[in-house]
Parts: sequence; C-alpha cells; structure tokens
Amino acid sequence: MDAQRLKDNFAQVAQHGDAVALFFYSDLFLRNPRLREMFPVGMSHQRDRLLGALGRIVSQVDNLPDLVPFVQQLGRDHRKFGVEALHYPEVGASLVATLRYYSGPSWSEELARDWTDAYNLLSKVMIEAAHEDASQRPSWWNAQIVAHERRRFDMAVMRVLPDRPFAYQPGQAVSLEVPARMRMWRYYSMANAPRPDNTLDFHVQLIDGGPVSPVLVRALSVGDWIKLGPPIGTMTYDERSGRDVLLVAGSTGLAPLKAILEQIDARPNPPRVHLFFGARYVDGLYDLDELQKMAARAPWLTVIPAVSDHDPGPAAERGTLADVIGQFGMWQNHDAYVCGSPAMVEATVARLRQMGLSDDRIRTDKYADA
Ligand code: HEM
Repeated sequence: MDAQRLKDNFAQVAQHGDAVALFFYSDLFLRNPRLREMFPVGMSHQRDRLLGALGRIVSQVDNLPDLVPFVQQLGRDHRKFGVEALHYPEVGASLVATLRYYSGPSWSEELARDWTDAYNLLSKVMIEAAHEDASQRPSWWNAQIVAHERRRFDMAVMRVLPDRPFAYQPGQAVSLEVPARMRMWRYYSMANAPRPDNTLDFHVQLIDGGPVSPVLVRALSVGDWIKLGPPIGTMTYDERSGRDVLLVAGSTGLAPLKAILEQIDARPNPPRVHLFFGARYVDGLYDLDELQKMAARAPWLTVIPAVSDHDPGPAAERGTLADVIGQFGMWQNHDAYVCGSPAMVEATVARLRQMGLSDDRIRTDKYADA
C-alpha cells in the first residue's frame, strides 16, 4: 500500500468540502435504504465527523502505533449505533465510489486497490475491537435522572444512575442520547470520580441552535431516562508524576477537571493544585460555591475564579484564563489539564508553552459547539 498516494488522493478529494460527504451518504442510502434509519434525521453533524475521522486516519496511515488505538475506539463506539460486521462492506463500497467520483481522471487501478486494502484493514480492526468489547460490557447503558438542578437559565447540573455498573476514569466522557432526539449522540464528561453508588454527574450548557443540549437543560427532569455510550477520552490524571497540578476550566469544561479533583482529593498525600475556573460573566461560574467549600477544607487546593467580559469586582480575577494564569505564576514544573472551548484551550496552551511548560505536561479536552 502506497501511503503517500492515499494521502495525496484524499487531499485532492477533500478540496470538494461538504459535497464529498453528501455524495457518500446519498450513494450509501441509495444502495442500502435500510441503513438510513441508523442515522439521525438531520445529518450535518455526522458529515463533519465522518470526514474528520477519515482525514485523521489517512494522515496517520503510516503511523500505526497512534492510529490503531483510535480506530479500535471508533469500532467499540460504533456498537451503540447498532453497527455490525455485515455493514462494513456496504460502507466501503460507497466510500470507494465517492473517492473515484471526486478523483476524476486521476483515479487508477492502483488507487482502487490501495483504498480497498486500507478500508478492509480498518474494518478488520474496528470489527475485532467491537467484538472483543461485546464480551466485556453492554453496547450502551440506560440511566435515570436522579437530580436535575438548573444553575442558570442555560446551565444544568444533573445526576444520573446507570442501570448497570459503569466503569470509567476521572477525566473521561461519554456520549448521551435523549429519547426526544433519537440517534443524536453528544459527548459530555463525567463531573465526578467514580462513586460507590454508581451515580454520575454532568454539567450541561445550552448551545444556541443545538438539538440536544436544550432538551438536557430545559426539558428533562428527575425520573426521565437517557442512554449512555461507553466512556472515552485520554485526559486522565497521571498519578505517578508526583508534580503539582494546574487545572484550567472554561465554563462547563470544569466537569472533567472536577472529576480529576475528586480523584486527587481521595489520595493520601495530594499534590498542590491550582484550579482556575473562568467564564464570561460572574453568573457563569455556576459551580464556584462547591469548589470554594472544597478549597476551605483542603489546604492543598487553591481555586481562582476569572471573568473575561465585565468587571467582577472582588468576586473574581478579571481577564481571559490565558491572561490570568499568565499573571499568577510559574507553571513550568506543573502538570496542566485544560478543558473548555477550542479557542480557550488553544489560547491557554499557547500561554503555557510561552511560560516554558512542555507539551508532554499538558493534557487537553476541547468542547465543541455542536
Ligand atoms: C472505516 C469505517 C468507518 C469510519 C472511519 C467511521 C467514522 C465515524 C465517526 C467518526 C463517527 C462519529 C462518531 C462519534 O462522534 O461518536 C461515526 C458515526 C456513525 N457511524 Fe461510522 N464509521 C465507519 C463505519 C461505519 C459503518 C460500517 C457503519 C454502518 C452503517 C457506520 C455507521 C455510523 C452511524 C450510524 C453513526 C452515528 C451517526 C451520528 O451520530 O450522527 N459507520 N462514524
């Protein structure tokens, strides 16, 4: 298989933007109408994700150590969509048809063979990972809402109880599906370390125009049921490092960092932890009371709230998180964990690098607006 030939061909095809995914799905559903009902009614969200994943896979096609875990995760994740081994050749045929169409005269026998080989390999890894996962845990969990608190008109903190044990690591996320928005899975991070009673907390911000978050914030209440996919994500706490910890949370990006904070709290000798919690306005600091209560009893923890878009007075620091962490300290000997919007994460990471923190000490998770 010629990796460079695949990359060049994908780059050429990807120049056609959204049209590529549109063609692919039209071809797929025309040939296999019964597959349509596996996908959500509105498909714009899925289109970006499929092309994004293919781009990532192709760009790493000659870097198997990084690629294989990602593809295995994707395979495990597809169980909750009801995807089975027999579906892979159907998707593969439409993928090759799409690539052929957009390659025009540059399509060749060699490309057809390389893409088919690459796709078959990819499918094999996904199917095997899904198969192995099926022997260990369910495809999804049903979970009942046991507490639902609206902290602001557009923010809710909710607690759910899964119907079966749900193992995960602090810092990880799951995809949620709500009955009113079937097949629209959206990712949220658990906001607590695992508890003996198996409950999970989620922090949800309503996204304007989003189909799922308004249901989670405004329509659901105690007693309602949702579905959870398997836990995913690598922004987990490195317990062995021994270094002090810097946590930087933009709005509901606090959730996974709060889970990590609880994990640290349970340790016999916690490291020193600075948690910066930022929002545009003071009322966006929706969990500050709880964090301050924890800081009052935990001498190793310092909580610093920050507000970027107006003067918070003595309640918080004024500025973006990137600016405020810059004013506060020397972080080059810390492990940093950063979560929030893509812009906030990028600005914060850039500032940390400027301040001498190396990339291997920075773990991030970005919350996209979708
Ligand atoms: C190489 C093979 C494949 C790749 C790279 C791929 C990639 C993806 C990605 C990245 C997502 C979004 C996942 C998420 O964000 O949770 C997705 C979702 C999905 N995939 Fe695949 N997929 C593949 C094969 C298949 C096959 C064979 C089927 C069977 C019909 C399938 C059906 C679905 C469905 C139903 C969704 C959910 C749609 C949604 O949430 O909008 N995929 N896929």
